[in-house]
Amino acid sequence: KDGFTVAIDGPAAAGKGTVSRAVAEHFGFAHLDTGLLYRAVGAKVLEGMTAEEAALTLVAGDLDNDQLRTNAVAEAASKAAAIPEVRAALVDFQRSFAMRAGGAVLDGRDIGTVICPDAQVKLFVTATPEVRAERRFAELAAKGFDVTLAEVLAEVQARDARDSTRAEAPLKPADDAVEMDTSTMDIATAVARAIELIKSRI
Ligand code: C5P
Repeated sequence: KDGFTVAIDGPAAAGKGTVSRAVAEHFGFAHLDTGLLYRAVGAKVLEGMTAEEAALTLVAGDLDNDQLRTNAVAEAASKAAAIPEVRAALVDFQRSFAMRAGGAVLDGRDIGTVICPDAQVKLFVTATPEVRAERRFAELAAKGFDVTLAEVLAEVQARDARDSTRAEAPLKPADDAVEMDTSTMDIATAVARAIELIKSRI
């Protein structure tokens, strides 16, 4: 399935990552979590680099880092992601990933709208802010990060607001995206629905 692209977008902790990894494994597609690109930029900003320079000098090795999962990095990522030059510097890498032999799944905020507007499958995964904050809180707590649910909810809401209202590539469903609300859905159901949708387009 060369050039077959699955675009999965949505707000933080809606289940995009879990669904993306599962469908990539099911179909043998390559998977790119594009949030990691912005998180790697955010991490370098916290170390003192400018966001523009960090985006231009990003290398694959920068994405393989557990410390990219913190709230501080997420916030720095979301601020850097509003800068047009940062987004522009990351476009080619994402588009060439989408064209990989054998098919690809990309998950993020603007894959169906900006990066891969011709993707064969576009899925927009949502859940209520409360449900998403609980999921992210459980994830962070399991990794030993010292956070409270209230802090995580505030962070998720601030990030959603910034991501949805920015001028460049705001978080929103593409006109032709299929929306899936996972608030009361278990992982197996969400994955099964995504697999059915993709099968119907292959
Ligand atoms: O998905 P994740 O929470 O790791 O993304 C971190 C931040 O990176 C998001 O809050 C968003 O600001 C930015 N991002 C983006 N476009 C993408 C993926 C992530 O702007 N395609």
